[in-house]
Amino acid sequence: MGRRFPYHGYIILIYNIFGTRDLSPCPKKGMVNISGSKSKALFAEAQRYIPGGVNSPVRAFKAVGGDPLFISKGEGSRICDADGHTYIDYVCSWGPHILGHAHPRVMAALKETAARGTSFGAPTALELQLARMLVEAVPSLELVRLVNSGTEAVSSALRLARAYTGRSRIVKFAGCYHGHVDSLLIKAGSGVSTLGLPDSPGITPGTAQDTLALPYNDLEFVREVFARQGEEIAAVILEPVAANMGVVLPRPGFLEGLRELTTRFGALLIFDEVITGFRLGAGGAQEYFNVIPDLTILGKIIGGGLPVGAYGGRREIMELVAPLGPVYQAGTLAGNPLAVTAGIATLEILARPGTYTLLEERGLRLREALARLAAAAGVPVSVQGIASLFTVFFTLHPVADYAEAACCDQQRFRRFFRLLLQNGIYIAPSPFEAWFLSLAHSEEDLEATLAAAEKAFFALGEGRQI
Ligand SMILES: Cc1ncc(COP(=O)(O)O)c(C=O)c1O
Repeated sequence: MGRRFPYHGYIILIYNIFGTRDLSPCPKKGMVNISGSKSKALFAEAQRYIPGGVNSPVRAFKAVGGDPLFISKGEGSRICDADGHTYIDYVCSWGPHILGHAHPRVMAALKETAARGTSFGAPTALELQLARMLVEAVPSLELVRLVNSGTEAVSSALRLARAYTGRSRIVKFAGCYHGHVDSLLIKAGSGVSTLGLPDSPGITPGTAQDTLALPYNDLEFVREVFARQGEEIAAVILEPVAANMGVVLPRPGFLEGLRELTTRFGALLIFDEVITGFRLGAGGAQEYFNVIPDLTILGKIIGGGLPVGAYGGRREIMELVAPLGPVYQAGTLAGNPLAVTAGIATLEILARPGTYTLLEERGLRLREALARLAAAAGVPVSVQGIASLFTVFFTLHPVADYAEAACCDQQRFRRFFRLLLQNGIYIAPSPFEAWFLSLAHSEEDLEATLAAAEKAFFALGEGRQI
């Protein structure tokens, strides 16, 4: 500890066993001036053409203040902003870059595929290869359909679940995010039998009334809802490890209880593994916890950083999807050769022996060290995570659901974020997001991160012991 972030003016050549490079792409030295002039100017101009200057709201830095950084380049564990500053990146494009940025093998495969054309709107051997890899790795998948985003996969899976069961209602959990699907942008109403309320203008009460938003990890609550309305429920959808209210693990028995309830009432269990898929292991959370859903949603890692999504599950359910069955779903760019190529190369590297053990071991070490540093500085935190995914919650108590996540000290998070950024560490600009570790994060990166975190916690806690 105590080592400073290495703003090298030269190339660091540290190759790890997986062949990813830790290579500082930008030459700037010293503490980062985060009000960089180029990012600022680009953001000002972007706001003239794009709503809020961004193509996805969280990128606007609203939760942490200031202007977002415009990123010009990524390599390994590092990203570089428009002003030439380098950061160790724990956003990793919100999860897909489990190998780090611009992995040489993925880049080479993409060049080769692109040279043969980028899209045909016809079947390719590449999409078959990715589909086979998914079915072989993920326990619940017998058939899988590739789409372009997690949102698209979720909306298709809900349509399918409703068609299969002949029912309308969907149970979701507050704090779980499933993309911007109308029927899931719903907040909880009050009382056990109260239906969901629209969480965004533009969602009709009719849509909202088919969704029940319940507290995560509260199996008793779900039991009560099923006892009253179980025959009307088409599906229960959840993140098996919640990662969009910060990382919240399922309580022991929660996933098993949902599996038992849905089976008993003839509803489908849908695991949204857009984040956990190929992050907790090749078989995702379902393999990790040994609870097998009826349908699974995938995205992020399976596209290696290109736009992708997938939904799949039991053969008899998936056989309802067109052209085999009557449930319509289609996509001009679905199974896109470039996205599929990046996905295949990524999964092949992840399949090498030791990858997940290494990620898990580094993730655990980072979580433990962050908790220790916070305690030493007198800053109450709950560092929660699994494998290579975690969140630092600024709270005295462990967080088990959205209500508890929402009570964390968001001002402290905001200061923590800015202190880390000033010291070259880029984490998600929101207290409700995860840190994503990649295979490209080296021991030196971890040390630099902890050195920056130590300074940040000290500033937050003013050096007091808990
Ligand atoms: C768990 C989960 N499901 C679905 C989505 C939506 O995926 P996309 O942004 O590709 O539409 C996300 C996005 O972050 C997600 O985290």
